[in-house]
Amino acid sequence: MMQGKTILLGVTGGIAAYKAAALCSRLTQAGANVHVIMTEAATKFITPLTLQTLSRNAVHVDTFDERDPSVVSHIDLADHADFVVIAPATANAIAKLAGGFGDDMLSTTLLAATCPILIAPAMNVHMYEHPAVVRNMELLASRGVMFVEPGTGQLACGYVAKGRLAEPEDIVAAVEQWFGRGGLLKGKKLLVTAGGTIERLDPVRYLTNDSSGKMGFAIAEAASLMGAEVTLVAGRVSVKPPAGVRLIEAPSAAEMLEAVTALFPEADLTVKAAAVADYRPLAVSEHKMKKSGDKLILELERTTDILQTLGEMKQPHQLLVGFAAETENLEQYAMDKLWRKNCDLVAVNPVNRPGAGFNGDTNLLFIYDSNGLVEELPLLSKREAARRLLDIAVERLKDVGRDRA
Ligand code: PMT
Repeated sequence: MMQGKTILLGVTGGIAAYKAAALCSRLTQAGANVHVIMTEAATKFITPLTLQTLSRNAVHVDTFDERDPSVVSHIDLADHADFVVIAPATANAIAKLAGGFGDDMLSTTLLAATCPILIAPAMNVHMYEHPAVVRNMELLASRGVMFVEPGTGQLACGYVAKGRLAEPEDIVAAVEQWFGRGGLLKGKKLLVTAGGTIERLDPVRYLTNDSSGKMGFAIAEAASLMGAEVTLVAGRVSVKPPAGVRLIEAPSAAEMLEAVTALFPEADLTVKAAAVADYRPLAVSEHKMKKSGDKLILELERTTDILQTLGEMKQPHQLLVGFAAETENLEQYAMDKLWRKNCDLVAVNPVNRPGAGFNGDTNLLFIYDSNGLVEELPLLSKREAARRLLDIAVERLKDVGRDRA
């Protein structure tokens, strides 16, 4: 997919710059013609010679180091680029691009580039969550810049938190996705739900579940990389949502119902990966409940089934994808949900199998339509599972209106 494509790789000054070598090598091996631009700060972490050797092209650092008098380097590089990847992208590099600054080779080239831009941020977790950085990323996302989320793990500063540069293979997959699938969802509005819901018992206690939001977030990120305009409705989550999507927080089943039903009429494709509570406490205590006696019996009432409500609202041009967390009788339960909730596809995760379901970074998905099993995906990262599910949904989107009109 990248064969013969010219990719500009912007490397900025963070410790993760060393990973740019692996990324550069993988992009080159995938057939891309890679031109590297480094900031001065990046050269403190990795040498231009490393990236020159791996890319087999001269590396650019200084705007005024004009080697070919017949062109202006930063304009020439920008004009010939099919795609720009900035990895790692520091808070400073993100701020410069958001603010339109052009004070070095990378920032001036980016200002002149008209091709798609993918940013892979890497920084300390507090920097990543700083309101200025968040606002800059939102601004860039609103201009169509795409993001590959940093991973969670040991950071160079000693924290174990979010901020680690995404793995080179995930960045390459995102680039491949754009070349292979980019634009497939262009002009389409996607609504995704993620995370668990919380159902309050009193001001300090609630009922919830193990959903981290990772599966729904992976779908939102993948759809955004495919060109969709994504709205993400998130309940209680344990990881940061992806940049580049519109986020609406809806912690309880009732709030999620309200948000999702309001947004649904606009959506072309809706994917309901959230784990919504089936029951909530019948009464919510205004004050902290005091203990009394050896037993406490909670009285619960059914919540509204959001997916089923959407199934009833669904118009012929809309595609509705449900999820199901099951431990047995996968096909039987999947088909029951598909018919009862009027879904076009149901993705079942057998949550009792290793690596599948809640919390982890991988999932096992069995995808069903009204005729039965469509595809049984192997154990994959949630990112890859999301891409494969969306590939199937994209094919169906082409037909939905036609089938039911
Ligand atoms: O967030 P992660 O940690 O990454 O975990 C991902 C996941 C396991 C939560 C996800 O892959 C998943 O399976 N989500 C659906 C879990 C679930 O609630 O399944 P269910 O079988 O109870 O519900 C079936 C479908 O109905 C789901 O699409 C659910 O969103 C929807 N539902 C359920 C109840 C309700 N009141 N309203 C609903 O819309």
